[in-house]
Amino acid sequence: MKTERVYKHYYFIIQEERIIMGKTLVAYFSASATTARVAKELAQAAGADIYEIRPAVPYTDADLNWMDKKSRSSVEMNDRSSRPALADRDADIASYDTILLGFPIWWYVAPTIINSFLESYDFSGKKIVLFATSGGSGFGKTVDGLKPSVAADTVIVEGKLLNGRQTAESLKAWVETVL
Ligand SMILES: Cc1cc2nc3c(=O)[nH]c(=O)nc-3n(C[C@H](O)[C@H](O)[C@H](O)COP(=O)(O)O)c2cc1C
Repeated sequence: MKTERVYKHYYFIIQEERIIMGKTLVAYFSASATTARVAKELAQAAGADIYEIRPAVPYTDADLNWMDKKSRSSVEMNDRSSRPALADRDADIASYDTILLGFPIWWYVAPTIINSFLESYDFSGKKIVLFATSGGSGFGKTVDGLKPSVAADTVIVEGKLLNGRQTAESLKAWVETVL
C-alpha cells in the first residue's frame, strides 16, 4: 500500500537520524584549544554528544615545549608506554556505538593520553573514528599505536585531519560517510 511505503520511508529517515544523533559520541583531548574548537563544531554538525578527555594534571606551556627534550610532552612521547593519568573516568561509553575520537598530533601520532583513555573503558564491538589537528603532519602510524589499547573486535578508522576552518556542511558530510 502506498501509505505504508511512505510511512516506511519516514521511519527509515528517523532511524538514520537516531544513529547520527543518539548513538555517536565525540570524545576529544585538546591541550591548547584547537582540537576542542573543531570537536565542538563536529558534535554540533553530527548532532552528537561530546566528552572532553581531561588530564589529571593539565599541560602547561612548558609541558608542551617540543623543543625541550626534557619537557613533559617530550618525555611522555619518548616513552610510548607512558599513560598520563586522566582527571576522570565518567564517560558513558557503553551508551554509544560509534566514537569520534579527536586529539592533536604529537610527534606524528596521538598523544599517549589517548591510550590512557582507550584503556580506561570497554570499547569492544565499537567503532572509533579518529580526527585530529596538527601543524601539518598526517596520522602517520597513529592507528598502530592505538590498537593495542583496545579489544580485538574494536574497529579503529583513521578518519580525517580537520585543520583550518571547517564548515558545518563539510563536517556533516564527512560524518555521514563514516557512521
Ligand atoms: C608536544 C607537541 C608535539 C607536536 N607534534 C606535532 C607533529 O609531529 N606534527 C605536527 O604537524 N604538529 C605537531 N604539533 C602541533 C599540534 O598538533 C597542533 O598545534 C594542534 O593543532 C594542537 O591542538 P590542541 O590545541 O588541541 O592541543 C605538536 C604540538 C605539541 C604541543
